[in-house]
Amino acid sequence: MENREDFLMGAYFWENFSENLRKKGYQIIGGKPSWILNEILEELGPVIQITEVIVKPESKALVTSDRALDFHTDHHRARYIVWHCHKASTEGGDTLLVDAWRVWEKMSRSIREELRNIRLFEHKVFQDDEESYPLVSEDRHGCLRFYYSFWLVNKEDLREDSVRSWMNAIKEEKPIQMKLKEGDILVIDNHRILHARTAITGSKDRHLTRYWIAEKTSIPFLDVLCKRINFKLTQI
Ligand SMILES: [Fe+2]
Repeated sequence: MENREDFLMGAYFWENFSENLRKKGYQIIGGKPSWILNEILEELGPVIQITEVIVKPESKALVTSDRALDFHTDHHRARYIVWHCHKASTEGGDTLLVDAWRVWEKMSRSIREELRNIRLFEHKVFQDDEESYPLVSEDRHGCLRFYYSFWLVNKEDLREDSVRSWMNAIKEEKPIQMKLKEGDILVIDNHRILHARTAITGSKDRHLTRYWIAEKTSIPFLDVLCKRINFKLTQI
């Protein structure tokens, strides 16, 4: 049974958490708050995939290789990605983040119009995935939603000025760089924040668990958090 302090800490935590996620598109939670991981997963929405991100020398999958990964989003069905770090490699494996909203702001009106017509190969994971998906679209609230990985761009589209401008703007953006440590939790809005990784070197025993979380369909995320905070405060 939680006491009053727990309730207040909980309300304060969720207020900060939702604020950061809304304003910055990501949130890192340091330390080893074991109870927070389950709470976060429960609050954000349904978990649609869990992947153990470890280096497998024989693996052909990029995510489980030791190679650097360029900026991309994961599958578009994942509104949020949560990484829980169990172990960091002694060298490398840094996480890099770039805000696609900032990249989009740098695009001219005409380039934006062209980018709206670009479709990327679908990262086929789920049974009813289609052949392609738009680089930029709008969600049910009218917010821009990005889907991008350079390796999923059609060859012909790589010659388009709009796509080259987009790629160059990502390169020019100064990324947020962090090295996740044991116990850290990183949450990103996968429709907004592009993520990348430096090559994993050193001990190569980096281990993260990655959760893909679909958007809640019934009530918008922030409404859920507000309801939770209000509920808890009224229970004190
Ligand atoms: Fe990824």
